[in-house]
Amino acid sequence: MQCHVCKSKVLPVISFGDMPIANNFQTYNSINDYRFELATGFCEICALFQIIEQPDPSKMFHSGYPFFTGLSSTMVAHFKKVADELIKELKTSTTDPFVVEVGSNDGTFLVNFVNAKIRHLGVDPSKNVVELAKSRGVNSTDVFFGELTALQILKDYGAADVIFGANVICHLPNMEDFAKGIKILLSSRGKFVFEEPYIGSMIEKTSFDQVYDEHIFIFGVTSVARIFSRFGLELVDAVRQETHGGSMRYTIQHQGVSSKSSRMQELEKQELEDGLLDLSVYLGFAEKCEEKKQKLLSILRQLKQKGKRIAGYAATSKSTTILNYCGIDRNLIEFIVDSTPEKQGTFTPGSLIPVVSDNDLRMKEIDYFVLFAWNHQKEIIAKEVSKGNSDFKWITFVPDVEVLS
Ligand code: TMP
Ligand code: ZN
Repeated sequence: MQCHVCKSKVLPVISFGDMPIANNFQTYNSINDYRFELATGFCEICALFQIIEQPDPSKMFHSGYPFFTGLSSTMVAHFKKVADELIKELKTSTTDPFVVEVGSNDGTFLVNFVNAKIRHLGVDPSKNVVELAKSRGVNSTDVFFGELTALQILKDYGAADVIFGANVICHLPNMEDFAKGIKILLSSRGKFVFEEPYIGSMIEKTSFDQVYDEHIFIFGVTSVARIFSRFGLELVDAVRQETHGGSMRYTIQHQGVSSKSSRMQELEKQELEDGLLDLSVYLGFAEKCEEKKQKLLSILRQLKQKGKRIAGYAATSKSTTILNYCGIDRNLIEFIVDSTPEKQGTFTPGSLIPVVSDNDLRMKEIDYFVLFAWNHQKEIIAKEVSKGNSDFKWITFVPDVEVLS
């Protein structure tokens, strides 16, 4: 049990038990029962919460990767706003800027740079999403980002004025290779901007479903500053974001280029006060996970006993952790609706609950929907209301297990 970053000893926090790969949706023809233990730990040196054993990345990111950023209108709007801010800044500060996105998925973020006629490159190991991005005019390549890729990009395009990443840096087990790549590719005054689910939000809300194979790290301001300082890079700014149920946007530059923003220093102070640098907070979190599991199971069982019919809403990656940790199967949740065509007609990993379209007629017969995409609550409920489904009842489990009124 070594920290993935500093190799010192990791202190155990909680194990969620045997898990399948979160995005390994099953079909009749290809049942894949690969499992790994989803155990978590905390490194006191890096102040970093992490999963201990990580499956082989090629099992997670491949040509069948079923996640498409562009399916959420909230995320499309969010990335347009970030892109517009960066474009404005680049146009005044740099002639012929160059922007790289790590984990560029379907090009939702970079398409804004296509429209602004700014040189760009998307890097993503999943071929299917890269093809989709290319079809939208986004210059993209299907490789993993690291030192070697950075050297190649530097040779082909020159240094990057902005490197961006969203919900992807926490996927990378080899922080050393990654950070060296950033150090190589970033121009002298360039900015590496990335956003990820925030440890402070996960602890506040006991949103343990943020923990799954792809999320090796749940970062905080202190841990990000410590990690990148090992590689001659400096965290200079951090801002909280609403996305993914509570994220943080980090800005990193070469050491000594800019001074640390005061809002970032405030956040560092807050993390210290909230105990995010100490194991005890994480052990308290582990207890709350167990309580939440029992409470959710008891509500679902009570409703079932009353003869109520329950379905799930959105077969998110996060739902794999909650379904398998709680041992929920189709006896409790009949099916899960999801708008992703690639997920429809499949079964959820491990729990084998059928995934159907979010226009499935059987939705009308359901009494309660468990909202697995709790981070998209507003968008989803508004969508169902606009479809005439204002009578749907919703069960959420973040921050607390409750039936929404
Ligand atoms: P995320 O929480 O990782 O963004 O995953 C979102 C999942 O939720 C994805 O499988 C698509 C699904 N989803 C719907 O089915 N309907 C919706 O309205 C939204 C926003 C997401
Ligand atoms: Zn460490």
